[in-house]
Amino acid sequence: MVRSVLAGFGGYLPANRVTNDDLARRVETSDAWIRERTGIEARHFAAEGELTSDLATAAARAALADAGLDAQAVDLIVLATATPDQTFPATAVRVQAALGCRPGTPAFDVQAVCSGFLYALGVADSMVKAGLARTALVIGAETFSRILDFNDRTTCVLFGDGAGAVVLQASEAEGGLEVPGIHSVHLHADGRHQGLLYVDGGPSSTRTVGVVHMQGREVFRHAVNNLHAVVVEALAAHGLTPADLDWLVPHQANQRILDGTARKLEIDPARVVSTVAQHANTSAASVPLALSVARADGRLKRGDLIALEALGGGFTWGAALVRL
Ligand code: ACO
Repeated sequence: MVRSVLAGFGGYLPANRVTNDDLARRVETSDAWIRERTGIEARHFAAEGELTSDLATAAARAALADAGLDAQAVDLIVLATATPDQTFPATAVRVQAALGCRPGTPAFDVQAVCSGFLYALGVADSMVKAGLARTALVIGAETFSRILDFNDRTTCVLFGDGAGAVVLQASEAEGGLEVPGIHSVHLHADGRHQGLLYVDGGPSSTRTVGVVHMQGREVFRHAVNNLHAVVVEALAAHGLTPADLDWLVPHQANQRILDGTARKLEIDPARVVSTVAQHANTSAASVPLALSVARADGRLKRGDLIALEALGGGFTWGAALVRL
């Protein structure tokens, strides 16, 4: 049986770091309010002319270097974003050209907003298992600052820009859960809730791109409940409970959602990777960015059993169980 192993991790944040105090000079808000309600202290915003594909390319290069591979080895690119450079071509195609991958390498985008990386991981993992690729780049990259309404203090303080990437490599190692690789991916969506978190406009409706709209309290409630359920589902599929996990690597929406989910799962908060204080919510980039940070600082080790989870607009949500 073929499995995809996470062979490399990379992340990239734009140079421009924006603190809560910086934002408070632009919007009627305060460092104290943002910290208390969200745990966020700062976020990064892309510079003018710095595009999602630029962030994605930098993260992908870092992940390839971490895996000890060059771009010629890549035979699939799946990129999750809700903020593509253009309506088309896919941002993944621009990354393929920028990296210098072999022409002909399949490359496409996946759009599931904040859970986009989980969806992209599920698609890439399925393709590796089906024998369609042996070395895949899975990227989450966003320039959310471009779709924020800086007149809406309830949303604009929550998000940041960034990118994260992982390299998947096919492995034929025999065995059960002790073997490194993605052991299962669990994806869900419920379009009845699309009105709770959305960007107005788009090519087919208005031809223009709008801004983020959100009913924060409702989103919060759904997030904690659905994230708890999908992590339990992922663990139960293998006869496990949260106590069996070495780490939970969640989507970094805000610290209160992270804490609420960990409490409901009865996971020690010290076992939850949190980067939200410095990154804010980078949507599809948040899980791979958190992976790259926690791998680089030594928290995530080879052999660890981890669960990834995310929820985003739609709603879409998902989880993955991975042995590093
Ligand atoms: N600065 C100062 N005051 C603010 C700000 C701000 N940035 N934003 C709102 N307020 C004020 C409101 O105007 C309101 O004032 P009022 O009482 O005088 O009317 C007060 O603060 C409370 O506002 P609420 O919206 O009720 O605040 P709440 O406690 O619900 O916190 C928050 C808002 C942080 C958005 C919360 O609902 C939340 O975390 N929701 C989850 C949403 C989320 O993280 N979404 C990310 C995308 S989805 C995902 O990734 C899972």
